[in-house]
Amino acid sequence: MVGIGHTRWATHGPPSDVNSHPHVDCTGRVAVAHNGIIENWREIKDRLIKEGHKFVSDTDTEVIPHLIEEFKKQGMQPYEAFKSAVKELKGAYALVALDMDEPSKVFFARHTSPLVIGLGDGVNFLASDIPAFLKYTRKVVVVRDDEVGYITSSEVVMERGKRVGENSIEWMSVDLHPRVRVVEWTPEMAMKEGFPHFMLKEIHEQPRALSSTLAGVREIVRDVAKELRGASRVIVVGAGTSYHASYIGALMLSNLGGLPAQALISSEMRWYARSVSEGDVVIAVSQSGETIDTLLAARAAKGKGAKVVALSNVVDSAIPREADLAIYTRAGPEIGVAATKTFTTQVLTFALLSVEVGRLRGVLSEAEASNHAKVLGKVPEIASHIISVFEARAKTVAKTMAEKEHAFYLGRGFGLPVSMEGALKLKEVAYVHAEAYPAGESKHGPIALVEEGFPVVFTALSLDESELIKSNVEEMRARYAWTLAVAPKNAYELLRNVDVAFPMPELPSTASAVLYVLPYQLIAYYTAVAKGYDPDKPRNLAKTVTVV
Ligand code: M6R
Repeated sequence: MVGIGHTRWATHGPPSDVNSHPHVDCTGRVAVAHNGIIENWREIKDRLIKEGHKFVSDTDTEVIPHLIEEFKKQGMQPYEAFKSAVKELKGAYALVALDMDEPSKVFFARHTSPLVIGLGDGVNFLASDIPAFLKYTRKVVVVRDDEVGYITSSEVVMERGKRVGENSIEWMSVDLHPRVRVVEWTPEMAMKEGFPHFMLKEIHEQPRALSSTLAGVREIVRDVAKELRGASRVIVVGAGTSYHASYIGALMLSNLGGLPAQALISSEMRWYARSVSEGDVVIAVSQSGETIDTLLAARAAKGKGAKVVALSNVVDSAIPREADLAIYTRAGPEIGVAATKTFTTQVLTFALLSVEVGRLRGVLSEAEASNHAKVLGKVPEIASHIISVFEARAKTVAKTMAEKEHAFYLGRGFGLPVSMEGALKLKEVAYVHAEAYPAGESKHGPIALVEEGFPVVFTALSLDESELIKSNVEEMRARYAWTLAVAPKNAYELLRNVDVAFPMPELPSTASAVLYVLPYQLIAYYTAVAKGYDPDKPRNLAKTVTVV
């Protein structure tokens, strides 16, 4: 039995039945599902329409089965017709095709968008991501750019395209054996194991994910720290949650490592790329390792002579493969669309890296560095404590939050990127319009929105940050805002002055930057549930964003 399917994110044409994949040709014998964007779809479609093809959808993908049909009309066998169609495509694609004239095969091709093969016993799989088939096999081959082939239940054939001249490709057979990898992830990791949602399971999995990461990254962190030691500048790039981890990473590398470091949103990198040069190190942060914006930012940096270090959770994914060095967090597969455990493990990795850089550069004494390392070693245990102490309070907060339309998350210093992550979580799973701002900036505009009951959530990771935030709390209270704070438990005055307090363990910023987000993950999760939403599948979002 063979089959193909696709959960569509909708780049061309609204989400509707007619735009859903698979798309078929005029004969109904060829079907295609595709992730990515075909950039030259319009010209191909116009040409095919002139040749008599009838299209029914608004998608770019629909041109592919029609192209295959066209090559078959010229007398080609299905696989040759598929390869000829692929040769014409420009853009990003991971695509699979069925042809009723060779019904035991699923054809595939990849350019930029992720595609993996799962090798089972009497069954083979193609998917965008490993968890899709983890229940059936842990034997994996990652398909690389410009590879095509087909699978049957018992066979995998793969070829690599080499461009010769403008319009011609030579296909060379690929030996799969050295590429087969058995992933460490277990099938249970891709199951809910009694939790109602993956997001909640993954929040609770953080102690384990942090502990595996601590054990797994030690050696490579030392190598990367040596690379960073003499860097003239460090740019940390990422998207979404990974950008928030990048922001914390840049702050840590600058504060503890004494390096000139800045964070950039991956899709904004192109406007800075001109100033990148040899001597710079770019750290590309992406849990999936496949986010196209981050991949392109890393490529741009490499093209300018910078060293690229990848920080990812998925071994062999595109960004680590193209980087000079790769650090892998050990969070296990993350299924929930909202990143939780991958974020805290990324931040933990930055903490370890920054302490090592600080030690190598003499910014931190041996005693200071070993004190940070000691506390970081306890992070998994403290995470477990925070989750168990604050879960019920987060649930109570969620009941009120579920009635709100807007919220501010305010912080200073390290508290700002943690606030940004808190706001993003609430926005993406509970659809509350949550904005993060530097607390000192709120009086320069955003405060105009605040009225009675408006939620304002403060984050302070240290007593210093708490002291600076006190006046901002007063400003909000004076306007009858509903105030909440996540701050160290000895920040008595701040915590006493808010409506809901989360008194957290007093820790060095390296550890608190990892842990203070935990109440926010829980608040977002329980708010989504209180509103009747499925936090694992937020509308309009995809787990891995492979379109620019
Ligand atoms: O796989 P990546 O870490 O590169 O993904 C980046 C973002 O797309 C991702 O963090 C997104 O913002 C999540 N929905 C956050 O929860």
